[in-house]
Amino acid sequence: MKLLRLIEIEAARLAESGVSFGHGTTNAVDEAVWLGLWSLGLPLDDLDRVGSRDLTDSEIQSIRALVDRRIHQRVPAAYLTREAWLQGVPFYVDERTIVPRSMIAENLADGDLDSLLGRTPSQVLDLCTGNASLAVLCALAWPQAKVDGADLSSQALEVAAINRHRHGLEQRIDLLQGDGLQAVAGRRYDLIVCNPPYVNAESMARLPAEFRAEPAIALAGGLDGMDFISALLRHAGSHLASGGWLVLEIGHERATFEARFAGPRGLEPIWLENSSGCDAVLALTAADLCAWSGLEPLGGPAKQAEHRDHSGHSDR
Ligand SMILES: C[S@@+](CC[C@H](N)C(=O)[O-])C[C@H]1O[C@@H](n2cnc3c(N)ncnc32)[C@H](O)[C@@H]1O
Repeated sequence: MKLLRLIEIEAARLAESGVSFGHGTTNAVDEAVWLGLWSLGLPLDDLDRVGSRDLTDSEIQSIRALVDRRIHQRVPAAYLTREAWLQGVPFYVDERTIVPRSMIAENLADGDLDSLLGRTPSQVLDLCTGNASLAVLCALAWPQAKVDGADLSSQALEVAAINRHRHGLEQRIDLLQGDGLQAVAGRRYDLIVCNPPYVNAESMARLPAEFRAEPAIALAGGLDGMDFISALLRHAGSHLASGGWLVLEIGHERATFEARFAGPRGLEPIWLENSSGCDAVLALTAADLCAWSGLEPLGGPAKQAEHRDHSGHSDR
């Protein structure tokens, strides 16, 4: 049988089984191509060249067995292949951390963060680094920058260390453990990128099995998804250098974010556009964060020492 024909058959099986996508692919055909080429040890973008190749019986069996595992175990394909790609960069992944897919990576690749900063950052923090994919992409994007990756989960940091090593970035990426910004006490950054846990309780209860296979600590953001984010916004200003920026992913929770933190006398985020739309990634200046949270910014006093959360939630 030709490889292309087997991929068609396996894609149909994946589609019929009702597996969920969203961990690197969005549909059954791409998922079957990924699993098929990975099983054969071929580059994942090589289907045009190898699609007409005849498969041996053992190759057919291996691909079918892998697709069987994907269907019956209901785990992301990346947990089976131990590899995921983000912006063309490969990352090791296993069940200790989520599969890399942050939309911030797209804004980074598109130069949006360079445009915001207007300069090359020297000190970057990837808060909630998980697998360290954003830390690695930042280090690759800005070869002069020193990058910290921080996470509460020591297991996630073990995976982060594997990816740091894989990309030869031990000298440029520090990995730190702690709760939120407590991991980086006393440090300031030109840029903080953060893809935090932001899934609200209702969505958590309805997650497909593939997402439930990921560590809950990486996803669950409390009742309205904003628990981690709320604490981060209060303290981020004291970890940003003058002219610094926080770039934050919030899923598609723009309405919730705006109701709680923006609006008149609230934060004034810039919404960054990417392939998921313009409600998933936002950017905030150090000055805005300091004014909002009543912190003294580097290089000048806060505009207003008043906390302005319009939700009725107490953040203090
Ligand atoms: C959505 S994952 C993001 C992982 C990675 N940055 C990515 O984009 O693939 C969120 C990460 O936040 C970490 N986390 C959860 N609560 C945290 C906390 N209180 N302080 C620091 N990290 C936390 C989780 O362990 C997880 O690795």
